[in-house]
Parts: sequence; structure tokens; C-alpha cells
Amino acid sequence: MPQHVTTAHTPDTSNTIAHREWWRDAVIYQVYPRSFADGNGDGMGDLPGVTARLPYLKRLGVDAVWLSPFYTSPQADAGYDVADYRTVDPMFGAMPDADALVREAHALGLRVIVDVVPNHCSEQHEWFKQALRDGRDSPLRERFHFRPGKGEDGQLPPNDWESVFGGPAWTRVADGDWYLHLFAPEQPDFNWEHRAVHDEFHSILRFWLDLGIDGFRIDVAHGLVKAAGLPDIGHEEQVKLLGSQAVPYFDQDGVHEIYRSWRRILEEYAGERIAVAEAWTPTVERSALYLRPDELHQAFNFEYLTTGWDAAELRAVIDRSLDAMNSVAAPATWVLSNHDVVRHSTRFSEGDEARGLRRAKAATLLMLALPGSAYIYQGEELGLPEVTELPDEVRQDPAFFRSAGQDGTRDGCRVPLPWSGEQAPFGFGPADGGPSWLPQPASWKRFSVRAQEGDPASTLEFYRSALAVRREHPALGAGRDVEWLDAPDGVLSFRRTTARGTVVCTVNLTAEPVTIAAPGTVLLSSAESVGAAGQVSIPADATVWWAA
Ligand code: NOJ
Repeated sequence: MPQHVTTAHTPDTSNTIAHREWWRDAVIYQVYPRSFADGNGDGMGDLPGVTARLPYLKRLGVDAVWLSPFYTSPQADAGYDVADYRTVDPMFGAMPDADALVREAHALGLRVIVDVVPNHCSEQHEWFKQALRDGRDSPLRERFHFRPGKGEDGQLPPNDWESVFGGPAWTRVADGDWYLHLFAPEQPDFNWEHRAVHDEFHSILRFWLDLGIDGFRIDVAHGLVKAAGLPDIGHEEQVKLLGSQAVPYFDQDGVHEIYRSWRRILEEYAGERIAVAEAWTPTVERSALYLRPDELHQAFNFEYLTTGWDAAELRAVIDRSLDAMNSVAAPATWVLSNHDVVRHSTRFSEGDEARGLRRAKAATLLMLALPGSAYIYQGEELGLPEVTELPDEVRQDPAFFRSAGQDGTRDGCRVPLPWSGEQAPFGFGPADGGPSWLPQPASWKRFSVRAQEGDPASTLEFYRSALAVRREHPALGAGRDVEWLDAPDGVLSFRRTTARGTVVCTVNLTAEPVTIAAPGTVLLSSAESVGAAGQVSIPADATVWWAA
């Protein structure tokens, strides 16, 4: 049954969220709907759950919310396998719930970004089902990459490409043809050489823009166009090349024309609607191409996300990112965690949870001081660690069941959030002892929102302070450049100046306290720093913001 929106509306940008080019320095919070809040107690997060918690996000101090897919989907890849791009999956609610979410967010002054998944759909998508049903001559097959196999009986895949989740990127159907899927077999790739695919996605963009959403996060934005002739790569070469993303199915020049047409659509709508690319490219310079003035607004900075806790490496990636983005007048973006990677508190921990959290908080202050837009993944404001002990039988990530690919094993960062209470699911759902689609560790009681709220030493109050201070001091986030200051080895220090003030950010990435001359008065610190007579000792793994 199609779901209808009865109350199409445009966002109220008149007062609360009016701010030119809001996205250039916005803090955007990623909601992973199945794990955020469960409104109806079935163990699965849902849209009413998100709507009910919007005041929490407002209080946290973010500018916008990005929702991972909530569309109708068999959930072979947690919703990144879309069967119907214009309906809400019943497990997440219905279209009026999406409408209510957008309306309430706007009333609170929050923007809403939704995911669009254009590289592939679900095997349950109408086009694909019909392509199979109608047999080898079906014109619907041209909207995907169907090919005869190689070998005497066509028993070998058409080329040697491998799925990002592991195994061959081709699956054979009953009549003998093969189809391409860069991800799971349940996710057939669209053929972007076909006009109907372009038209369909233009229409999907308009559908959600008409509902009032403020932008799109584009899944696998670098994958839509494949090299002509789908050339073989060679297995060894592929493993090597995938690391640098320089494969014939990623980052082909043809993708840019697609995004030019998408930008034209975004521009037709009032209220600065934006698009952010999930584009894994060989270099940050290649990422910048997606952000030329007539293309997209932002791209995730995965080079930053994958950089370790190392002063020289961080400084280099910050410089490279700013240079590349400034060359196309686009804002840099900064991100530490998302639903595809191990949470950064665990990545930085080297096996010591307290160290991980210390570094995570220091990394957050660094990220929020840099010029550009920052992405926060749900739960990092609670200091959640990765859940590493999930029993195999509860895991759902398709990457876990195929050999490890680019995305690795991703259930550990997708465990439902703890909100309150003494017992699992800790307020994720309405009832104590109720279900949650992945189990939470008992230790998560102390990470709940209720347990942290009002405690000045908590990670949650630290995030709230950081976002409030960033709002008061535009030199945190606004602008385009950093001015590096002299600092001891293993310490990063930079100044940021805007018409409305100057701040300095100092990060001690070493394992020892360092003493420096205070460059101003402390605005916020990720750990207690001790000062006397103009000298300040910054603890190991800590960041300080100063008003200079
Ligand atoms: C990137 C998404 O973030 C990830 O979760 C998904 O599995 C792949 N794209 C395929 O859609």
C-alpha cells in the first residue's frame, strides 16, 4: 500500500534556523534509527522514538540530524537495501511519522538530513523483481548490470570484481544471467548509463524535498558510474587498489555530471537544502571534485576518521583537508565515528578504556575547534565504547557473514543507546526488561543519559558544554584556516581568528603532562589542567580551548 503524506510543508527558516550557509560550520548528529530510541517496545528503534527525543538533541546543542535509512527494506544491510524509496518501513513507522519528525525538528530549530541510496537497491525493489520475472530479454534488466557469464556454460562471473563485503561481486540468477552487486547479493547495483535511473532518483529527491527535509547524505556517492566495459582488475591488484579506492567501480569521472543535476534540483528549493557525499576516494583532492560549486556541499572526511592519535599525522591531514576544500571554496568536514567503524573511544584506547575515553574527549574538542562542519555519531556524547563481545548468533552485519571487506564487522557500534534505568534496555524501549535488537552490556547503566545528566564530570555534560562554547565563539568552527603555533613535540596548538574573537586550541597527544605558557584564559578543557603564574600543565591526552 502506498503511504501518502497529507501535510506537505516547507521548513520554517524565518527565525530559529535562519542563518546563511548554515551547513558550513554545522554540527550534524547521526541518528541510526534502529538503535536510537524504540517508541513501541518491539526492540527496534523507530521514527516516533526519534521524534520523542528531539528535545534531547536540541539540548545537546547540535544544528542538524542525519537519519540513516528508514525506508521499506528487507534489512539485508540494515536498511541500505531499499525496496521502496518513497515509503517508511513499518518497523520504523509510517509516512506521517516521518512528516511529524521533520515538522517537530523544524519547530525546535533543528535541520533534518536523510540518507539516499543510489548505487544499489534491494533485490525486493519492483524493478529488480520484474527484471527477474520477465526473463533475459526484459528491458528492466538494462537498469541493472546483467551480463552473461564467462566459460563454456556461462558458469563463471562476467568479470573478477569482488564485493566490498567479500566474495564475488556477481550473482547468477535461475535463467543463467549474472548481476552485479558491489555489496551484498541482496543489493543489485543500478546501471547509471540508463536514463530511467536518473529520472527515478530526481523524482525521489523531490519527494523528500517536498516533505521538507533539509538535505541528503548520499550513500556510496563514488560508486554510481562503473568504468566502460567493466574491465577485469586481477585479484592481487584489487586488494591493493581497494585500499586506495582506485578501482574501476569507484570514483569514476562520470559521477560528477549526476551531482550537477542533483545540485540544480536542490537549488530549486528554498531554504538551503544540501547534500553530503559518502565518497571514499584515493585522495582528499579527488574528494574535493565532488564539492565544486555546482556539485555537492560537503563530503565526509574519511582520511581524518582513519587517522590515529598522532600529532604529526593529524596536523598533516588537517592541512591537506583544508587546502583541498579551500581550493573549491567548500567547507572541510570532520568526523570520528559512524555506524560503519569501531567507535573512536575504543579505536584510541589501545586496550585501556579510560585512556580511550580521555583521548576521545580530547579528539572531540580538536574536531569542534577546526574550521568546517563536524559530524557526531549517536552515543559518542555518552562516551560509549564499542561492544566487542557480541555473541555471533545476535550479529546482523552482512559483512560479518562474508569475508571481511572495507566495512569490517559493524554490529559493535550499532548497539541501542542507554537512556535511563537500572536494567537493559536502559530506556531504549518503554519497558524495563523489554527487547532490544542487539543486547546492551550490563555496564551500560552508567553510560545512560539519566545517569550522566547534571554530573559536570560526565561525558554528556562535557559535550553539552563544548557545543555551547562553540556556539558562543564563532572562531570555533567558522572560517577556513588554522594558524599553527609553536608547540612541544606531540602537542598541536593553533589559533583561529574571526571578526568575533580569537581562540587557541591546544592538544597534548603525548602520554605525559606538558607545561606551556597559557595563551589566554581557559574556555573549556577535556581534563583538569593546572595553572600557576602564566604557566599551565596540560595532562596527557587532553585538549584545552582558550580565549586569546
Ligand atoms: C555505506 C553505508 O554507510 C554502509 O552501512 C552500507 O553497508 C554501504 N554503504 C552499502 O550501502
